[in-house]
Amino acid sequence: MTLRVGVLISGRGSNLQALIEACAKPDYPAEIVLVISNEPKAMGLIRAQGASLVTETIEHQQFEDRRTFDNSLTASLEKAGVDLVCLAGFMRLLTAEFVNRWQDRIINIHPSLLPAFKGLNVHERVIASGVRFSGCTVHFVRADMDAGPVIIQSAVPVHPEDKPKDLAARVLISEHESLRLAVRMIAEGRVRVENDIVKISGVTSPANGLINPSRLN
Ligand code: GRF
Repeated sequence: MTLRVGVLISGRGSNLQALIEACAKPDYPAEIVLVISNEPKAMGLIRAQGASLVTETIEHQQFEDRRTFDNSLTASLEKAGVDLVCLAGFMRLLTAEFVNRWQDRIINIHPSLLPAFKGLNVHERVIASGVRFSGCTVHFVRADMDAGPVIIQSAVPVHPEDKPKDLAARVLISEHESLRLAVRMIAEGRVRVENDIVKISGVTSPANGLINPSRLN
């Protein structure tokens, strides 16, 4: 049985695209059954339609408050029989009610090594801070923004000459890989949450860390 994934987007949809390509492989244990965008012009909708996926636009402006908007999301996700909700560049804050409804069945991808650099304009702030590494985090969603049990993280170096767009591009590659892997691990039933910490079975971990700068010229 494949895991039925509902993807929520607001824009470009490159993470959605990564998942679409993964799901097209015969041995991938998940399928995308619904893509919802709150932005009618999201490029991700075109990607989804190109892959013949079911799409829906639910515009937040049409609702009187967050609660009624979120209820509409839940109604569509339930109707589609979604097992796992995947926030992939979805730019709306969700109510605690919605998050609790999907507890441990909703994941988010964020372009930093959480809990560092929550929120927006991440790469600008990472570069300004002088840290040597950044990366991405896939985590289960909790009511607080960019918080919740970490499933997978991937580190990339920050180079001295990086502009935000350079770092964003490097992190984005790691996002696509991490999201595909996280959904696979969840679909394979390897991921569980215990006391708000994620435990994963049947995986290996790297023996050593990374170092940056790595050497002198
Ligand atoms: C990604 O950087 C993701 O981590 C963040 O929003 C961006 C969405 O990119 N939450 P895309 O729409 O998947 O291309």
